Parts: sequence; structure tokens; C-alpha cells
Amino acid sequence: MRFVFVGPQGAGKGTQSDRIARWFRVPHIETGKMLRTAAREETPLGIKASEFMDRGELVPDDVVVAMLEERITEPDAHRGFVLDGFPRTIPQAEALDEMLAANGGGIDAVISVDVPDEVLLERLSNRRTCPECGRVYNTTDHHPIEPGRCNEDGTPLIQREDDKPGPIRRRLEIFHKETAPVISFYAARGQVIHVDGVGRIEDVQSRIVSALAAKGFRRS
Ligand code: AP5
Repeated sequence: MRFVFVGPQGAGKGTQSDRIARWFRVPHIETGKMLRTAAREETPLGIKASEFMDRGELVPDDVVVAMLEERITEPDAHRGFVLDGFPRTIPQAEALDEMLAANGGGIDAVISVDVPDEVLLERLSNRRTCPECGRVYNTTDHHPIEPGRCNEDGTPLIQREDDKPGPIRRRLEIFHKETAPVISFYAARGQVIHVDGVGRIEDVQSRIVSALAAKGFRRS
């Protein structure tokens, strides 16, 4: 199972791709989280990436492609993986094709989580994130047990720098300009499954599981 989740920021890619990875028992690979970890640890890659991320810009393709390639060649990814946040540009999609073709494989399905812009804006302004483990909460229907603290490790939750109004607007523009063509790229191959991302988190998950099952992707 090699799945890709695409959609604008706040569509619920992270929320849903984590659930789908656990459902199929494959790793959940999030480029955004990998970059945020590198930034927090102040590695050379992280320092470079945070200049772009805090402004809501994409990190340069060569940096992200090299990071992703290293991750998907780790042993736990041999059975498959769920990609969240990659590819985000056509050059990244082409690079992914090359990486997978080298092992005689390819992407099996691309799940596009569709949510109108006004819902995205509300979700992002309500999102709170654990800077330690990356778990995501919101202030409406998925709040932590202890207010303001992560359920997993008790770390105080934060609002991401790029969840503020200026970077949110910039990320939406970039999605429409750079990432929407990636959906067309996979649609031309008949690989895109569109899922309505509005509604309860559990209901969206059921829609995705059913849509994948209808294409023959079932948990073994
Ligand atoms: P990344 O971390 O990937 O951010 P993003 O794609 O902008 O997506 P988000 O995490 O904002 O949203 P999401 O769709 O995952 O929504 P979530 O599930 O959290 O990337 C961050 C940055 O890293 C980029 O801007 C870029 O700089 C860099 N980067 C990463 N990958 C890159 C790449 N390949 N190339 C270049 N640069 C790259 O949900 C959002 C909120 O809504 C949460 O609070 C959640 O609880 C809530 N929610 C979710 N589902 C529902 C629902 N059904 N109903 C109500 N609330 C819901």
C-alpha cells in the first residue's frame, strides 16, 4: 500500500493520513512534521527549512526530495507507507516516480481531501499542536483531556507560526498554484480518489476507508 494524501492546509490530511496509516499498519510519513522536528533540533536542514516554513512558503524541492528519499528507503517503509504533504509540486511528483520506479513500484492511490476555503481558515485558527510529538488538536471538537496540554506527553500545546493569518493566506495561494497541478498529474493516470473532508473526523475516515475498499485496497 503506497498512498498519498493531498489537499490544502487544514483539510485534515494529517488527521486522516495518520488514521489510515494505522488502519493499514504502514508508516505515516509527514514531510511537514519531519521539517518541524529538524527546525526544533536546529540541524542545518532545519535552520534552512524554518526560514521558508514560518512565512508559509514551500521548502525548496531538492531539500525535501532528499529528506523523503532517505525516509522511504528505511526498512519499515518496504511494506508501504502513507505520504502526507509530499509531493507538493510537479518536480516532487516526478522525483517520487523515479524513486519508486527504481524498485519496480509506484503510487497506488492518491486521496484528495476536499474542503472549502472558509472551513479551512476556521480549522487552522483553532488548531493547537504538540511541539514535542506533533499531535494535533482543535479548540472545538477534538480538544485535549487536560486543557492546553498534549494527551500523549503533557507538553503545553502551541499555535504553529504558520497558522497565523498572513502565512495561512500565503499557503492557500501556494496550494492553488503549485499543488493543485499535482492532483491533475495523478488524475490523468486515474489514481485520484476525491473525498469530502467536511463532517466529523470519524465520518471522513469511514468515507476514505470505504473509497479505498471500493478500489480493492483492504486491510489484510
Ligand atoms: P504541513 O505540516 O504538511 O502543513 P500543511 O500541508 O499546510 O497542512 P496542515 O498540517 O496545515 O493541515 P492538514 O491538512 O494536515 O490538517 P490537520 O489534520 O492538521 O507543512 C507545513 C510546511 O512545511 C509547509 O507550509 C512547507 O513550508 C513545508 N513543507 C512540508 N512538506 C513540504 C513539501 N513536500 N515541499 C515543500 N515544503 C514542504 O487538521 C487541521 C485542523 O482541523 C486540526 O486542528 C484538526 O483537529 C482539525 N480537523 C481535521 N479534520 C477535521 C474535521 N473533519 N472536522 C473538524 N475539524 C477537523
